[in-house]
Amino acid sequence: TWKRVPLAPPDSIFKLTASYKDDPFPQKVNLGVGAYRDDDSKPWVLPVVKKANQILLEDPAIDHEYLPITGLPAFTAAAAKLILGADSPAIAEGRVTSVQTISGTGANHLGAAFLSKYYDFNGDRKVYLSDPTWVNHFAIFRNVGIEPLVYPYYDPKTIGLAFDELVTTLKRLPAKSVILLHACAHNPTGVDPTREQWGKICDVFLQKKHYAFFDCAYQGFASGDLDNDAWAVREFVRREVPLLVCQSFAKNAGLYGERVGALHLVAPSQEAATRVKSQLSVLVRSEISNPPAYGARIVSLILNNPELFEEWKRDIKTMASRIIEMRKELYRLLTEELKTPGSWDHIITQIGMFSFTGISPEQSQALTEKAHIYLTQNGRISMAGLNSHNIRYFAENLDKVVRG
Ligand code: LMR
Repeated sequence: TWKRVPLAPPDSIFKLTASYKDDPFPQKVNLGVGAYRDDDSKPWVLPVVKKANQILLEDPAIDHEYLPITGLPAFTAAAAKLILGADSPAIAEGRVTSVQTISGTGANHLGAAFLSKYYDFNGDRKVYLSDPTWVNHFAIFRNVGIEPLVYPYYDPKTIGLAFDELVTTLKRLPAKSVILLHACAHNPTGVDPTREQWGKICDVFLQKKHYAFFDCAYQGFASGDLDNDAWAVREFVRREVPLLVCQSFAKNAGLYGERVGALHLVAPSQEAATRVKSQLSVLVRSEISNPPAYGARIVSLILNNPELFEEWKRDIKTMASRIIEMRKELYRLLTEELKTPGSWDHIITQIGMFSFTGISPEQSQALTEKAHIYLTQNGRISMAGLNSHNIRYFAENLDKVVRG
């Protein structure tokens, strides 16, 4: 038995966490997985999460019953407002279907599974992903029988957005193609379109009737402002592009292991939204029965209590600001102190959790082998892994591999 099961390679992101943990080298640095760390390289439990947790602990009404199949209603309703805007006409018109998911990955999976069953692919079961994208996107779509292909996104020459190629390609794709967009803080590049560029991308979606599959894992992390980071999604909704949004609270609430997320699908009518929800419910029931309660209760408390909500926004600013500080310091070290060859402007222009350094896979590997610095082969670094204690060590070693 199982003779025909081929051995799969380890996950390219999570294997870094394991190697880092096993490494006894004292100055080791983990810039692999996108998880926030404080200035001492420690995970940060957000103060607002601690407070919400305490409230839950003291609440005699909390039990361990099943949630409804589509999740905690107070959570999904507030989560929809967070991404689409409290005053969203689509919400007011009852056109938004929201279902609780196993964080952002679960939302991507559920969205993909739903499209796989019900989207009118015209025989062409394909999704278009940005080149590059979060590596897991490929597996998620393949898993439900949708072939992932890529559209141009990142230009290695400018270490920025390949905007013209992107637009030309979107125009060339068959009408009604499904296209995955990162709502903000693009993973892995940290390169986002400007508002003007989003507007032009939106024009093409409308012309070609493309379907927008938004992945929003970093709301708040791009600019430190929740509304600002939701702008592209809201603009697409306002202009009536057909779409869904995958939402994660792993990063912005630091609830990685609690798996809190939601899938929001904006339908053309309330009646369509009801039918869609009924089928999402069937899918959820067969896969997970009903979602986990704990993390959703925490986020629900934070989103629905104005005081906690304000505190959460401050916590997000704390995380986003520390990352911005690290960008500035890394830039300063490379350009002013070490005078590392090449341009490093992208370190400060890229936004969000990640920076795409532009170094080669060989250089990335050299950083790991020679300096115990863990990062993905594509040269992506999680800025949150840098801090005042290790940033000089990182900059000096980056300088060394760049000089060769
Ligand atoms: C990452 O890209 O590092 C994060 O999104 C974590 C993950 O699940 O891969």
